[in-house]
Amino acid sequence: MFSNIIKKDTKNRVEAAQLDPQLIPDHVAIIMDGNGRWAQNKHLPRVAGHKQGMEVVETITEAASDLGIKVLSLYAFSTENWRRPNEEVNYLMGLPNKFFSRFVPKLIRNNVRVNVIGDQSQLPEKTQEAVNNAIADTKDCTGMVLNFALNYGSRSEILSAVKAAAIDVKKGRLEPETIDEQRFSQYLMTASLAPYGDPDLLIRTSGEQRISNFLLWQIAYSELVFTDVYWPDYQPEDLYQDLLVFQKRDRRFGGIKPNEGENKNK
Ligand code: IPE
Ligand code: IPE
Ligand code: MG
Repeated sequence: MFSNIIKKDTKNRVEAAQLDPQLIPDHVAIIMDGNGRWAQNKHLPRVAGHKQGMEVVETITEAASDLGIKVLSLYAFSTENWRRPNEEVNYLMGLPNKFFSRFVPKLIRNNVRVNVIGDQSQLPEKTQEAVNNAIADTKDCTGMVLNFALNYGSRSEILSAVKAAAIDVKKGRLEPETIDEQRFSQYLMTASLAPYGDPDLLIRTSGEQRISNFLLWQIAYSELVFTDVYWPDYQPEDLYQDLLVFQKRDRRFGGIKPNEGENKNK
């Protein structure tokens, strides 16, 4: 963990941000929020925010990959986002096509592999096609994994995992007594990201301070950072700043700091 090779051209910016290159998290997850408000503030239709948000996905993906982050999970569409007006949902469903047709060559150049979590079967056929092509085109990339959560909801993910495990028990492939945290994780959509399935850091943009059904199991011990910046305004410098906040946190995982347990009177 935390052994990363930072690209030379990123080095200066990392130093300027006072980041410790040895403490770059392996898995960063981002709830990309605030597209609509960004657009409304500019008297633009909400979809203009999604369009600009797509550009930011490119910039931040490159910045994250240059930092040596191993997995970048981006919440792009939740199972609850179907509640939005048709026009907006349709626009969002067209974005993977737009994004991948433009950026897959660059992802390949940067050795970035695309992965997707969420129920793809409910997506329009064209969206599924764009996603599957991007996964296939980048399958041999060995650098950062760009993990899009598309039609993803964590409660539904956990329910699917429980059902799959129950079926395996019924078929005699799984002993109920052997179901521990590690084994259960193998039924989650993040299983293929092992050993980096759990985010070290979860960032939410736009000032909202909630999880909105994202990676509930996986963030048990993630550091949470909430920033007021709207996603379409989010820049690599904002990422560096949020990483700095992460680096100043004290992750204890339920334990105590090495020296804290010493009893001076002993
Ligand atoms: C996040 O921005 C993008 C998606 C949820 C798809 P929003 O569209 O939620 O923007 P706000 O929260 O309304 O500003
Ligand atoms: C969460 O944002 C989902 C994504 C960023 C894709 P929302 O904007 O949908 O969340 P709520 O409705 O504010 O909780
Ligand atoms: Mg929102």
